[in-house]
Amino acid sequence: MKALIDQLETNRILTKEDLVQLIMQRNPELDQYLFDKAVAARRRIYGNDIYIRGLIEFTNYCKNDCFYCGIRKSNKNAARYRLTFEEVLGCCATGYDWGFRTFVLQGGEDRYYSDERLCDLINAIKNKYPDCALTLSIGEKSYASCQAYFNAGADRYLLRHETADERHYEKLHPASMVLSTRRQCLYDLKRIGFQVGCGFMVGSPYQTAEHLAADLLFIKEFAPEMVGIGPFIPHHDTPFAQEPAGKLEMTLFMLGLVRLMLPDVLLPSTTALGTIDPQGRELGILAGANVVMPNLSPLVVRNKYLLYDNKLCTGDEAAEGLENLKKSMEKIGCRIIVHRGDYKPKS
Ligand code: 5AD
Repeated sequence: MKALIDQLETNRILTKEDLVQLIMQRNPELDQYLFDKAVAARRRIYGNDIYIRGLIEFTNYCKNDCFYCGIRKSNKNAARYRLTFEEVLGCCATGYDWGFRTFVLQGGEDRYYSDERLCDLINAIKNKYPDCALTLSIGEKSYASCQAYFNAGADRYLLRHETADERHYEKLHPASMVLSTRRQCLYDLKRIGFQVGCGFMVGSPYQTAEHLAADLLFIKEFAPEMVGIGPFIPHHDTPFAQEPAGKLEMTLFMLGLVRLMLPDVLLPSTTALGTIDPQGRELGILAGANVVMPNLSPLVVRNKYLLYDNKLCTGDEAAEGLENLKKSMEKIGCRIIVHRGDYKPKS
């Protein structure tokens, strides 16, 4: 198995069969072998630098009904909110003072936030903070809408593909959502000129080793600038309430494999990873991740953006905890960087 990791390190690709082998046979020794190589790859490109992004969860209204997600339309128990322009700009002001130079606007697919309103918001943020990067994470949009956001000044766009297998995609989403549309949106975003992020959950219901291998191969083929990977965590008010959460070890293994496949990719150690294990975020960095995304949302709404149960929103997960986050990163030999942290292809 170590030979396969060596091969991945050299060639940055493996066959689907080899990936399935690795995924099925992973064990603590192989994990460590992979993580050492993944961290070495991260250090070659990024040194000890860890980039931070201030996450602003600006609306939890959503027209979609994804079976795994706590803010799905059918969840009548979700306490809905949307931030005003002024509130979003207030988050940016606070974040800027703390040293954030990337803001991530994340939200459900909220019809109130029309293209016009979104473009106004993007414009306002970019005018006030021209030295900052703005990332959108607002779901599937048309080519024209994405182009409008780009023209308004947005720099990056996160849209997880969720799973690269069509049948699996159907098991996680209602019939109105299909993988081909999501894929098309990802390719549109790239063509428009965004730095783009895709990604998937580890341990989502019905997921197999073949699915994970397909996710990795899709990521390799799409060659995004960013990749978001976190464990699935059940939410009590969704159809998947009784499903088990994804495993820490498998999530870390995926992070390590992605780092070897795309050595210069921007790879966050996600909130979900921090939620399933108290050391999750640090372990993510030690498996090859190089980005953390502390929460900048106003405290009064922070416990309402609940995609899954027990989601962390305080402590090191919160932007207020930046000092602690800096310390915990220093303990593992890393340092938080305050510039925009753009993708820099170096390989
Ligand atoms: N567990 C883990 N991640 C989730 N997401 C949504 N619901 C869950 C859940 N229950 C992830 C999806 C989405 C991102 C914003 O959050 O992958 O793309």
